[in-house]
Amino acid sequence: MPYFITTAIAYVNGPPHLGHAYEEIATDVLARHMRQRGEDVFFLTGTDEHGEPVADSAHAQGLEPQAWADQNAARFKELMPTLNISQDFFIRTTDPEHIARVQEVMQRIYDNGYVYKGVYEGWYCPRCADFKTDTDVGEGNTCPIHGIPLTRESEENWFFKLSAFQQQIEQLYAEHPDFVMPARAMNEAQAFLGGGLQDVSLSRSKLKWGVTVPWDQSQVFYVWFDALLNYYTALSYARPGQDLADHYGPAQLHVIGKDILKFHTIFWPAMLMAAGIAPPEHVFVHGFLMGEDGRKMSKSLGNGLDPFEVIEQFGTDALRYYLLREVQFGQDGNVGIKGCTVRYESELANEYGNLASRTIAMIDRYRDGVVPAVATDPALADDFSTLPQDVAALFDRADSTQALELIWQRVRRLNRYAEERQPWQLAKDPDSADQLNQVLASLYEGVRVVSVLLAPYIPASVEKLLAALGAPDSTYAAASFSAAGPLTSGVTVSTLPPLFPKMASDRT
Ligand code: MSP
Repeated sequence: MPYFITTAIAYVNGPPHLGHAYEEIATDVLARHMRQRGEDVFFLTGTDEHGEPVADSAHAQGLEPQAWADQNAARFKELMPTLNISQDFFIRTTDPEHIARVQEVMQRIYDNGYVYKGVYEGWYCPRCADFKTDTDVGEGNTCPIHGIPLTRESEENWFFKLSAFQQQIEQLYAEHPDFVMPARAMNEAQAFLGGGLQDVSLSRSKLKWGVTVPWDQSQVFYVWFDALLNYYTALSYARPGQDLADHYGPAQLHVIGKDILKFHTIFWPAMLMAAGIAPPEHVFVHGFLMGEDGRKMSKSLGNGLDPFEVIEQFGTDALRYYLLREVQFGQDGNVGIKGCTVRYESELANEYGNLASRTIAMIDRYRDGVVPAVATDPALADDFSTLPQDVAALFDRADSTQALELIWQRVRRLNRYAEERQPWQLAKDPDSADQLNQVLASLYEGVRVVSVLLAPYIPASVEKLLAALGAPDSTYAAASFSAAGPLTSGVTVSTLPPLFPKMASDRT
């Protein structure tokens, strides 16, 4: 089945930060899981390059917006292999194909009668590139998100008849109670809708850095109308000569942060309806990462977690694992280098890495590296029997954190099993050879299964480990624990250097 999944596209008014890395990683985990299950995944990400915030920050650097956008978009693109993101396409909203397609769709919305001319006046935040409703204005007319003073703006521009979609969106929500996930985010979207939809201005006359309105060359589209359409336009040119829109569109899942909920849960379906295009299936709203002290990360407080520092010290898989494990996906969470170090050492290095190396080392030492061809321990097999289905059910709700918890419970179970059965003792007694075979086969099978299920989270480590186990299949079908004994019985394992080596400071 086609499975189209997207991240928000990031503003290029600066280099990428941890919040961006988090969204990429979390979405990548979902995309990789769906690929494991054999879904025909198309994973889209990219950069949002027009609008006030980018133009303003470019001018502050003494650069033209395009030059500044080019510089920063390149940094976002470079981030993808660094984080091991498996996107199928990276869109830039300055791509000429995107621009042409935005004009085409917006013209359709205009022709369908959902656009009119009006005068807009309101409190405007240049960083949000958004007018604030009266209830949204912070103390002293400041932006509640950025804390900067809002400006009073008034201009004649084009309006989108958002109010015309009140009933259709109410119906969409009623028919699809999980259109927005998790439930708390759905409540927020409902509350916004309950307040009554008001028309919104869709163009700007002052700003020059944007997509020109085709029916009025003196204006450019308000950046959100250009940006949201990336989810539609990208499919038309991601593969030259092919239009993938009929195959993949509309999206199964848009992953976004909580600050842009309104745009994705209200504006976006309304725009699609106005253009005669079907709305997406789900929008998943994740929380914000904060410093370990619970405060917003900032350079001056020194409470930030620098993704590059983590990668340099612990590796990409450790960053991916830590963020998904530490922060319940869909909620805010506090992260920092201390917590990351603890989880790296206690969970990745000790619980998982050691388990894998011990298992391989024991098969090597006691059985010349050959995986014993015997049935696994029924007690252990029972504990794994519903694991793949349970993990998949959680992923169907995008609950990658609880899925990871379930997998990790089995990692711990395997460690307890090794302690209980003490294969190193069994190895001393030739009469216990059968028991030892069973324990080794069971540990092998358990390590293999948890690794297959961990592949979306820590893909590079799992690939190495499964290769060393002589069982490279990482599809979802390979995630069942075989009671009859490892399907790869008889293969020879190869030893492997520690996947998550202890830090240098520990060795002293
Ligand atoms: N350009 C818009 C999105 C347009 S989508 C059609 C935008 N860009 S952004 O660069 O400000 O944010 C990109 C994504 O990163 C958003 O989903 C946002 O919520 C997320 N995050 C930004 N800071 C974050 C944290 N500190 N923590 C987690 N995610 C955060 O909004």
